[in-house]
Amino acid sequence: MTKLGFGLTFLTVVACSLFPGGCDRREEQQGLEAAAKAELAAVIQERNRLQEQVGKLAKDWAAKEKTAEITMNNLKYLLAEETEKVVELQDRNEKLQATIDELQKKLGIEAEEVKDEFKEIREPDVIFVPTPQDVVDKMLELAEVKKEDLVYDLGCGDGRIVVTAAKRFGCKAKGYDIDPNRVRESLKNVARNNVGHLVTIEQKDIFTLDLSKANVITLYLLPELNVRLIPQLEKLKPGSRIVSHDFSMEGVKPDKVVTITSDRDTYEHTVYLWTVPLKKIPEAEPAPVLDDLSEE
Ligand SMILES: C[S@@+](CC[C@H](N)C(=O)[O-])C[C@H]1O[C@@H](n2cnc3c(N)ncnc32)[C@H](O)[C@@H]1O
Repeated sequence: MTKLGFGLTFLTVVACSLFPGGCDRREEQQGLEAAAKAELAAVIQERNRLQEQVGKLAKDWAAKEKTAEITMNNLKYLLAEETEKVVELQDRNEKLQATIDELQKKLGIEAEEVKDEFKEIREPDVIFVPTPQDVVDKMLELAEVKKEDLVYDLGCGDGRIVVTAAKRFGCKAKGYDIDPNRVRESLKNVARNNVGHLVTIEQKDIFTLDLSKANVITLYLLPELNVRLIPQLEKLKPGSRIVSHDFSMEGVKPDKVVTITSDRDTYEHTVYLWTVPLKKIPEAEPAPVLDDLSEE
């Protein structure tokens, strides 16, 4: 029932009670009054129910709002934390990149230096052919190498002669080779045999060397290269020994010449020994020219 309906019923009930003679339908009015009251009670109940529902919804909403706020705050916090981490990582990344750049630069320079250290000087005058180990032993024995000696191998190949001299006699030794690959091999050989404290290896052209400090020279070159070395060999200290595998030295008389059949290759090898001062063989007088004789 609407407010207007309820009002009219109420007025009717009042009028009837004021004028009892005019109201013949008192019972009916009472019924209407009771219905109006019931309807009013129902409306009030419905309003209360709705109010309760609204209150509950409001409470729910407030709770949800609170949860959303907490979630939002948490997310903001996480975002701030992550942003901080990203900044930190970017910073570390920049520092690492700087270190990498620096190391790469350094490595590049070092690689260049290594390349420079072992750059090709010129073509070798003779290719690398190693002396069999038993012939190496014979050469050093013939030169009577002692601990106090300084042995030079001119064209040291894989370094076997200088390594053997250091290992067997405990003497110092120097190996020289023009070929960068041979120098690397020799250095490895020296390291493998732990004789780095006695043996040095250098990339040098043997024809540029000062030999005056050596006592023993070992050679496995070619006859003409031995001859080319004579001016340098003459500057060795008196008593120094020179041994050559397979090749003589034209114009200089050897003190000893021995042969050895190698177990390694079954060939016969010759070893020459010279001592300083060198015994030069005087060049023969040129034969007189026949025409000149006839004129005399
Ligand atoms: C036949 S091998 C002898 C190697 C070693 N001495 C041996 O008896 O086992 C000659 C060596 O001399 C080197 N050689 C050639 N010409 C040279 C030069 N002008 N200066 C330095 N080494 C040279 C070669 O590279 C080669 O390793």
